[in-house]
Parts: sequence; C-alpha cells; structure tokens
Amino acid sequence: MIISDNNDKFTIVSESVEDTFRIGKNLARAIGPPAVVALVGDLGVGKTAFVKGFASGLGVKSEITSPTFTLMNSYTSDSVKLYHIDAYRLKGGAAGLIELGFEDLSAPDSIIIIEWAEQVKDILPLERILVTIDHPSGDMKETDRAISIDSEDSMDRIRGAITKDA
Ligand SMILES: Nc1ncnc2c1ncn2[C@@H]1O[C@H](COP(=O)(O)OP(=O)(O)O)[C@@H](O)[C@H]1O
Ligand SMILES: [Mg+2]
Repeated sequence: MIISDNNDKFTIVSESVEDTFRIGKNLARAIGPPAVVALVGDLGVGKTAFVKGFASGLGVKSEITSPTFTLMNSYTSDSVKLYHIDAYRLKGGAAGLIELGFEDLSAPDSIIIIEWAEQVKDILPLERILVTIDHPSGDMKETDRAISIDSEDSMDRIRGAITKDA
C-alpha cells in the first residue's frame, strides 16, 4: 500500500519480512550499476532483510549475512559486484569508510548498499538512492514498516517496479 507519493519520494507499507524482501528485490531490478543505495532506519527495522531481497534481485546466489562485525561483505553475480556495508560499528564516520577503501569500490559494474548510511552521509554521492525504513507508528501492526524511497534518477522506473504488486 502506498501511503504517500510525490515526484522524488514515495512511501509504501511493508506488512512482513517477505514484503520487505520483495521491495528490495524490485528496487534492484529497476536500477543498474553503478549505484549507491543508502539505508536509514533503527536497529531491527529490516535493513538487512531489505538487502537480502536486493541482492536476490541482482542475481546474487550466495547467502547474505549481516556485515555488522566485518563492516563490509562483497558478492558477485553475472553482471554486478555488490558491496554491502554496515556503518553501525564503523569508527570515524566518512573518514572510517574511506579507510575501508570506499573510494576504490566505485566502478561501472558496482553497486554499493550501506546500512546506517546516516553515519557516513558526508561521503555519499548526490545521486544516491535513499531508502528509509521506519518502525510502525499510530495504528500500524507490529510487523508493518513504512519504507520510503527517495532518488533523483530513475524514479518512474523505481516507482513502477516497486508498486506494481503492492
Ligand atoms: N515488515 C517487516 N520487514 C522487515 N523485517 C520485519 C518486518 N516485520 C518483522 N520483521 C522482523 O524484523 C527483523 C529485522 O531484522 P534486520 O533485517 O536484521 O534489521 P536491521 O538490519 O535493520 O537491524 C527481523 O527479525 C524480521 O523478521
Ligand atoms: Mg542489519
């Protein structure tokens, strides 16, 4: 269900972890490399669940695990390199991300997806796709999440892919 929509941002409700997976998967199918996806939302809101769907949509076959302690995991599919970063424990914000080698990751065939992106926002490109996941509020169910997508590019494609089965 779409709860708000304007030109460069829309918000959709996920009613389950499977829904969140599917929304991530549909986003991946709507975009291509190079891209940076910034995920913002509290602990346990579903960021990693979203990344699992996103990776699946890119054709990544390996199991996705949370990079909470490794900080970054990388995966490959036939067409892309996927870098999955979790900035929660990253020390030093944007500088810490540079130390991790962030600037070498950008490549024509790479997609970078970052959990806790607000910790490193100073280094994110302006063309990032911002995905904000919120815990339920008001009379929403415990398993509901409000997922907002905000991007300057490809917004019609993204909206179409994500809302087609919502
Ligand atoms: N609608 C939903 N979307 C995503 N996760 C949900 C949803 N409802 C319940 N959950 C649960 O919330 C948790 C999300 O965990 P995770 O994806 O690791 O969060 P994060 O990476 O944001 O800390 C999982 O236990 C999942 O089953
Ligand atoms: Mg996580």
